[in-house]
Amino acid sequence: MLPPLDHIPREIASLSDYETFAQARVDPGTWAYLNAGAGDEWTLRENVAAFARLPLRRRMLRSMRGATTATRLLGLDLQAPILIAPTAYHRLAHPDGELATVLAAGATDTCMVVSTQASLPIEDIAAAATGPLWFQLYIQPDREFTRALVQRAEAAGYRALVVTVDAPVNGLRNAEARAGFALPADIGPVNLAGMQMPQQEAAANALLFGTAIIDHAPVWDDIAWLRAQTRLPVIVKGITDPDDAALAVESGVDGIIVSNHGGRVLDGVPASIDLLPAIVEAVDGWVPVLMDGGVRRGNDVLRALALGASAVLIGRPVLHALATAGALGVAHAIRVLRAELELAMASTGCRTIDEIGLQCLHNFGVARSAW
Ligand code: GLV
Repeated sequence: MLPPLDHIPREIASLSDYETFAQARVDPGTWAYLNAGAGDEWTLRENVAAFARLPLRRRMLRSMRGATTATRLLGLDLQAPILIAPTAYHRLAHPDGELATVLAAGATDTCMVVSTQASLPIEDIAAAATGPLWFQLYIQPDREFTRALVQRAEAAGYRALVVTVDAPVNGLRNAEARAGFALPADIGPVNLAGMQMPQQEAAANALLFGTAIIDHAPVWDDIAWLRAQTRLPVIVKGITDPDDAALAVESGVDGIIVSNHGGRVLDGVPASIDLLPAIVEAVDGWVPVLMDGGVRRGNDVLRALALGASAVLIGRPVLHALATAGALGVAHAIRVLRAELELAMASTGCRTIDEIGLQCLHNFGVARSAW
């Protein structure tokens, strides 16, 4: 395994270019963990492939003087509608783990969403932050522990809660099993230390049904409960259906993230970008809708915004950049994506994030731009 780089080689010109450099720097089990999708990995592939089915509509000669990617989201002023998605165990990718990622987030003024399964204490990550942080929460079987975790995040200065609802059960993926992936002894969910798992006798032949993990999995009432526990905005992540989006809005959430968990939970769910329009329609402007899954280019950011997303989150490419060159890699990846977004906006005649709309997509049934 090669050590992380202290510079960005010229061969890395796009986010995908980080993949081969990252693969050479982590063991095969970790590589499988970072990149695996559920089942046959159709959803994993679709997340990326579906963007390519949305050709762009070019417009010429519009002045871009004063153009900006800046936007406002849930009380945050963002330089661009791009956030770092919550992903587990950054120390698997780089020895500095989440401390490197948060350094890059601060340096690029990017909001980082820190995972419940971070490999470092959420307080240490917050202490190193120079930009805004959100905290991703898994509602734990022990609701008192969950409440305490929320209070820790609030006390540490996290600015919103992102509650992931799409992975109540999350077995070993085929690729991880084949590669023999197991967490190393010194890397784990340190923020869950001390949590009691419910004691429950399952039948001897129980697979999933009848086990504590499924019986204590969160339900919609828990979202309303969480809403009552905190003053922070609550954003629900992992919505793939308009009816669930409506239930989320009814539960009082402040935002929705359309996500299939990077294709890691249920294979066969459509690509996030294909799910987005119907969910945006169902939400009808009540709360911002974000998306993640398959964003590899600034053009993809523009496509997502054209279909109604307020912002996107980047998952695996951040881990690839982290494994390749630590904080430097992550900061570079974010800058590459922003540069591509600016080019995409200039090429489609959008001076501001709000101007990005269906008119940016070829043959999308909208004939006229506002200008
Ligand atoms: C955790 O959420 C994972 O997808 O590994």
